[in-house]
Amino acid sequence: MNLTNKRRAKMRGWVLVMLALGGCSGPMAPSMAIRSEDRRDYDTAIGHDGRSSKEAFLRWRADLTGISFEEALIADVHLRKNPFDEDDGAAVSLGAVIYNANCRSCHGSDAEGDGLYALSDHPPKDFRSFGARLQVAFSGGAPSEWFDKVRNGEGSTVQYSEGESRAMPAFAEKLSNEQIWLVLNYLASSDREAD
Ligand code: HEC
Repeated sequence: MNLTNKRRAKMRGWVLVMLALGGCSGPMAPSMAIRSEDRRDYDTAIGHDGRSSKEAFLRWRADLTGISFEEALIADVHLRKNPFDEDDGAAVSLGAVIYNANCRSCHGSDAEGDGLYALSDHPPKDFRSFGARLQVAFSGGAPSEWFDKVRNGEGSTVQYSEGESRAMPAFAEKLSNEQIWLVLNYLASSDREAD
C-alpha cells in the first residue's frame, strides 16, 4: 500500500519533470509572438499621447467592455489571478508587446536575461532556463510569485544607467494588473504551444 503510494508520487514527479522538459523551450522571441492582426491594440498596450501606459490601457479596457474608467480601475485591482491562457495567441501577442516596451531592456530580446541594461552581478531572470520552465510547470502557468515580484520589485537597490532602483524594479505604478498578467502569460507560454 505504502509502496504503491510512493511509486505514484514518484510517477507524478516524473510527469511534471517531463511536462517541464516538453515546454523547456520557453516563450517565443517577442518579434515572433507579436501578431500583425493585433497591431491596432499595440499603442494601447504600450501607452501613448504622453499618458502612462497603465492609464491608457485601463481606458482602452473600459471602452472595450462598456464600463467607466473608475469601474475598470476597480476591476483591475481585484485581478489577483491570471485570467489568461498560454495558448491564447491574442493574449500572448499583447503580452509580448508589453514585454518589448517594459522588460526587454533587461530580460533580453529572447527573454534569456541578457538585455542591454542587464548587470552581471544582478542578472535578470532567464525565462527560457530549465528552472523557469519548472516553475511554470509546477504552477500550471505564470507563477503568482512572479506577479508579486513584478508589482513590488525584487532584490537590493542598484544603480542602472537610467537611475537607481531595485534590481528588479517595481511596476505597480506603471502597469495595470491585467498588463502584468498579460506579460507573465507571454513569459509562461512556450514556443510550441503558442503557434
Ligand atoms: C532594469 C532591469 C529590469 C527590468 C526593466 C525588468 N526586470 Fe525583471 N528582473 C530584473 C532582475 C535584475 C531580476 C532578478 C532580481 C533578483 O533576484 O534580485 C529580475 C527578476 C524578475 C522576476 C522574478 C523571477 C523569479 O523567479 O524570482 C520576474 C517575474 C521578472 N523579473 C519579470 C519582469 C517583467 C515582466 C518585466 C517587465 C514588465 C521586468 N521583469 C522588467 C531586472 C529587470
